[in-house]
Amino acid sequence: MALFFEPGQHKQHGLPFNPFKTLVVPRPIGWISTMDAQGMVNLAPYSFFNGLADAPPMVFFASNGRPRSRGGGKDSLRNAEATGEFVVNLATWDLREAVNATSAPLPPGESELQRTELSLLPSERVRPPRVAQSPAHLECRWIRTVDLPCTNPEEGNHLVIGEVVGIHIDEALLTEEGFVDLSRARPIGRLGYMDYTVVDTIFSMPRPKR
Ligand SMILES: Cc1cc2nc3c(=O)[nH]c(=O)nc-3n(C[C@H](O)[C@H](O)[C@H](O)COP(=O)(O)O)c2cc1C
Repeated sequence: MALFFEPGQHKQHGLPFNPFKTLVVPRPIGWISTMDAQGMVNLAPYSFFNGLADAPPMVFFASNGRPRSRGGGKDSLRNAEATGEFVVNLATWDLREAVNATSAPLPPGESELQRTELSLLPSERVRPPRVAQSPAHLECRWIRTVDLPCTNPEEGNHLVIGEVVGIHIDEALLTEEGFVDLSRARPIGRLGYMDYTVVDTIFSMPRPKR
Protein backbone atom coordinates (compact mmCIF):
# COMPACT_ATOMS: atom_id res chain seq x y z
CA MET A 1 0.00 0.00 0.00
CA ALA A 2 1.16 3.53 -0.69
CA LEU A 3 -0.18 6.83 0.48
CA PHE A 4 -1.76 8.84 -2.35
CA PHE A 5 -3.11 12.33 -1.95
CA GLU A 6 -3.95 15.34 -4.07
CA PRO A 7 -2.04 18.32 -2.71
CA GLY A 8 -4.90 20.65 -3.69
CA GLN A 9 -7.19 18.93 -1.21
CA HIS A 10 -6.68 20.38 2.27
CA LYS A 11 -4.67 17.98 4.49
CA GLN A 12 -5.92 14.95 2.54
CA HIS A 13 -2.58 13.30 3.39
CA GLY A 14 -3.59 13.00 7.04
CA LEU A 15 0.02 13.53 8.14
CA PRO A 16 1.16 16.05 10.73
CA PHE A 17 3.06 18.05 8.05
CA ASN A 18 2.72 18.30 4.30
CA PRO A 19 5.47 15.99 2.95
CA PHE A 20 5.86 17.62 -0.49
CA LYS A 21 9.15 19.36 0.26
CA THR A 22 10.69 16.15 1.63
CA LEU A 23 10.30 14.63 -1.83
CA VAL A 24 12.10 17.28 -3.87
CA VAL A 25 15.51 16.89 -2.31
CA PRO A 26 18.13 17.96 -1.69
CA ARG A 27 17.42 21.51 -2.75
CA PRO A 28 20.46 23.74 -3.11
CA ILE A 29 20.24 26.92 -1.09
CA GLY A 30 20.63 30.19 -2.94
CA TRP A 31 21.85 32.60 -0.30
CA ILE A 32 20.81 35.80 -2.02
CA SER A 33 22.37 39.21 -1.42
CA THR A 34 20.61 42.23 -2.88
CA MET A 35 20.63 46.00 -2.40
CA ASP A 36 17.68 48.31 -2.18
CA ALA A 37 17.51 51.65 -4.00
CA GLN A 38 19.04 53.37 -0.94
CA GLY A 39 22.02 50.98 -0.95
CA MET A 40 20.98 48.89 2.06
CA VAL A 41 22.21 45.31 1.74
CA ASN A 42 19.81 42.41 2.24
CA LEU A 43 20.70 38.74 2.63
CA ALA A 44 18.33 35.76 2.77
CA PRO A 45 18.32 32.02 1.93
CA TYR A 46 16.07 30.55 -0.77
CA SER A 47 15.82 26.79 -1.30
CA PHE A 48 13.38 26.99 -4.15
CA PHE A 49 16.57 27.75 -6.02
CA ASN A 50 18.50 26.12 -8.82
CA GLY A 51 20.45 26.55 -12.01
CA LEU A 52 18.28 26.29 -15.12
CA ALA A 53 20.68 26.54 -18.07
CA ASP A 54 24.37 27.02 -18.73
CA ALA A 55 24.55 28.97 -22.01
CA PRO A 56 24.15 31.57 -20.73
CA PRO A 57 24.29 30.36 -17.15
CA MET A 58 21.02 31.21 -15.41
CA VAL A 59 19.59 30.62 -11.96
CA PHE A 60 16.23 31.16 -10.32
CA PHE A 61 14.86 31.58 -6.83
CA ALA A 62 11.19 31.49 -5.96
CA SER A 63 9.75 33.91 -3.47
CA ASN A 64 6.69 32.50 -1.76
CA GLY A 65 4.35 34.10 0.70
CA ARG A 66 4.06 37.82 0.74
CA PRO A 67 2.60 38.85 -2.64
CA ARG A 68 4.02 41.57 -4.89
CA SER A 69 0.63 43.08 -5.46
CA ARG A 70 -0.31 45.23 -2.46
CA GLY A 71 3.23 46.66 -2.23
CA GLY A 72 4.53 43.46 -0.66
CA GLY A 73 6.94 40.82 -1.81
CA LYS A 74 9.97 39.65 0.06
CA ASP A 75 12.94 42.02 0.12
CA SER A 76 15.12 39.83 -2.14
CA LEU A 77 12.44 39.81 -4.84
CA ARG A 78 11.71 43.51 -4.54
CA ASN A 79 15.39 44.51 -4.55
CA ALA A 80 16.29 42.21 -7.45
CA GLU A 81 13.53 43.79 -9.51
CA ALA A 82 14.24 47.35 -8.38
CA THR A 83 17.98 47.24 -9.10
CA GLY A 84 18.11 44.40 -11.67
CA GLU A 85 20.84 42.60 -9.75
CA PHE A 86 21.46 39.94 -7.12
CA VAL A 87 24.29 37.71 -5.93
CA VAL A 88 24.12 34.03 -4.96
CA ASN A 89 26.52 33.12 -2.15
CA LEU A 90 27.36 29.44 -1.68
CA ALA A 91 25.75 28.21 1.56
CA THR A 92 28.17 25.87 3.33
CA TRP A 93 28.32 23.74 6.46
CA ASP A 94 30.57 26.29 8.20
CA LEU A 95 28.06 29.05 7.47
CA ARG A 96 24.90 27.10 8.36
CA GLU A 97 24.01 29.13 11.48
CA ALA A 98 24.46 32.41 9.61
CA VAL A 99 22.37 31.11 6.69
CA ASN A 100 19.56 30.30 9.09
CA ALA A 101 19.92 33.59 10.99
CA THR A 102 19.46 35.55 7.77
CA SER A 103 16.02 34.01 7.22
CA ALA A 104 14.55 36.08 10.06
CA PRO A 105 11.42 37.91 8.87
CA LEU A 106 12.64 41.47 9.34
CA PRO A 107 10.79 44.49 7.95
CA PRO A 108 12.28 46.26 4.90
CA GLY A 109 14.95 48.70 6.05
CA GLU A 110 16.30 46.30 8.68
CA SER A 111 19.10 44.03 7.52
CA GLU A 112 19.46 40.38 8.51
CA LEU A 113 23.22 40.97 8.33
CA GLN A 114 23.13 42.73 11.69
CA ARG A 115 22.30 39.36 13.24
CA THR A 116 25.53 37.77 12.02
CA GLU A 117 29.29 38.20 12.15
CA LEU A 118 29.45 38.18 8.36
CA SER A 119 31.46 40.69 6.37
CA LEU A 120 30.99 41.82 2.79
CA LEU A 121 33.17 42.06 -0.31
CA PRO A 122 32.42 44.21 -3.35
CA SER A 123 31.24 42.43 -6.48
CA GLU A 124 32.85 42.92 -9.88
CA ARG A 125 29.89 43.37 -12.25
CA VAL A 126 26.91 44.11 -9.99
CA ARG A 127 26.29 46.42 -7.02
CA PRO A 128 25.08 43.98 -4.34
CA PRO A 129 28.12 42.77 -2.39
CA ARG A 130 29.21 39.20 -1.67
CA VAL A 131 29.47 37.39 1.67
CA ALA A 132 33.22 37.33 2.36
CA GLN A 133 33.05 34.07 4.33
CA SER A 134 31.36 32.19 1.48
CA PRO A 135 33.81 30.43 -0.84
CA ALA A 136 31.91 30.96 -4.12
CA HIS A 137 29.59 33.60 -5.56
CA LEU A 138 27.44 34.04 -8.65
CA GLU A 139 26.90 37.65 -9.67
CA CYS A 140 23.52 37.84 -11.44
CA ARG A 141 21.55 40.25 -13.61
CA TRP A 142 17.80 39.93 -13.16
CA ILE A 143 16.13 38.75 -16.38
CA ARG A 144 12.49 38.56 -15.40
CA THR A 145 10.05 37.51 -12.70
CA VAL A 146 7.37 34.97 -13.54
CA ASP A 147 4.23 35.18 -11.42
CA LEU A 148 3.01 31.66 -10.73
CA PRO A 149 -0.35 30.35 -9.55
CA CYS A 150 -0.94 30.49 -5.81
CA THR A 151 -3.70 28.60 -4.06
CA ASN A 152 -3.73 31.06 -1.17
CA PRO A 153 -5.43 34.24 -2.39
CA GLU A 154 -3.59 36.23 0.29
CA GLU A 155 -0.16 35.14 -0.96
CA GLY A 156 1.96 34.90 -4.11
CA ASN A 157 4.54 32.66 -5.80
CA HIS A 158 7.11 34.59 -7.82
CA LEU A 159 9.94 32.99 -9.79
CA VAL A 160 12.92 35.32 -10.11
CA ILE A 161 15.29 34.46 -12.96
CA GLY A 162 18.79 35.88 -13.34
CA GLU A 163 21.72 35.51 -15.70
CA VAL A 164 25.06 34.79 -14.09
CA VAL A 165 27.46 37.49 -15.28
CA GLY A 166 30.35 36.86 -12.89
CA ILE A 167 31.62 33.87 -10.93
CA HIS A 168 34.04 33.88 -7.98
CA ILE A 169 35.64 30.70 -6.65
CA ASP A 170 38.00 30.68 -3.68
CA GLU A 171 41.24 29.16 -4.96
CA ALA A 172 41.28 26.91 -1.90
CA LEU A 173 38.46 24.95 -3.57
CA LEU A 174 40.46 24.28 -6.74
CA THR A 175 42.52 21.14 -7.18
CA GLU A 176 45.88 21.20 -8.94
CA GLU A 177 44.11 19.91 -12.06
CA GLY A 178 41.65 22.82 -11.95
CA PHE A 179 38.53 21.04 -10.68
CA VAL A 180 36.27 22.46 -7.97
CA ASP A 181 36.57 20.11 -4.99
CA LEU A 182 33.18 20.44 -3.28
CA SER A 183 34.33 18.31 -0.35
CA ARG A 184 36.39 21.37 0.66
CA ALA A 185 33.33 23.65 0.57
CA ARG A 186 30.71 21.26 1.99
CA PRO A 187 27.61 23.01 0.59
CA ILE A 188 24.41 22.44 2.53
CA GLY A 189 21.05 21.56 0.98
CA ARG A 190 17.51 21.76 2.23
CA LEU A 191 15.32 18.73 2.87
CA GLY A 192 11.77 18.86 4.25
CA TYR A 193 10.64 19.92 7.73
CA MET A 194 13.55 21.62 9.53
CA ASP A 195 16.07 19.21 7.98
CA TYR A 196 19.17 19.88 5.93
CA THR A 197 21.86 17.77 4.30
CA VAL A 198 25.51 18.41 3.54
CA VAL A 199 27.49 17.43 0.46
CA ASP A 200 30.02 15.00 1.90
CA THR A 201 29.65 11.96 -0.36
CA ILE A 202 30.50 12.39 -4.01
CA PHE A 203 30.47 9.71 -6.70
CA SER A 204 31.08 9.89 -10.43
CA MET A 205 29.33 8.05 -13.28
CA PRO A 206 30.27 8.40 -16.95
CA ARG A 207 27.20 8.97 -19.15
CA PRO A 208 26.17 6.25 -21.56
CA LYS A 209 27.66 6.75 -25.06
CA ARG A 210 24.27 6.05 -26.71
C1 LIG B 1 17.12 27.30 4.28
C2 LIG B 1 15.96 28.21 3.98
C3 LIG B 1 15.39 28.20 2.71
C4 LIG B 1 14.34 29.07 2.40
N1 LIG B 1 13.80 29.03 1.15
C5 LIG B 1 12.82 29.90 0.80
C6 LIG B 1 12.28 29.90 -0.52
O1 LIG B 1 12.68 29.13 -1.40
N2 LIG B 1 11.32 30.83 -0.81
C7 LIG B 1 10.88 31.72 0.11
O2 LIG B 1 10.02 32.54 -0.22
N3 LIG B 1 11.36 31.73 1.38
C8 LIG B 1 12.33 30.87 1.74
N4 LIG B 1 12.85 30.88 3.01
C9 LIG B 1 12.39 31.91 3.94
C10 LIG B 1 13.09 33.25 3.66
O3 LIG B 1 14.50 33.13 3.82
C11 LIG B 1 12.56 34.29 4.64
O4 LIG B 1 11.19 34.54 4.34
C12 LIG B 1 13.32 35.60 4.62
O5 LIG B 1 12.84 36.43 5.66
C13 LIG B 1 13.18 36.34 3.31
O6 LIG B 1 14.00 37.45 3.40
P1 LIG B 1 13.87 38.73 2.48
O7 LIG B 1 12.50 39.34 2.70
O8 LIG B 1 14.99 39.60 3.00
O9 LIG B 1 14.08 38.30 1.06
C14 LIG B 1 13.85 29.98 3.38
C15 LIG B 1 14.42 29.97 4.66
C16 LIG B 1 15.45 29.09 4.97
C17 LIG B 1 16.04 29.08 6.36
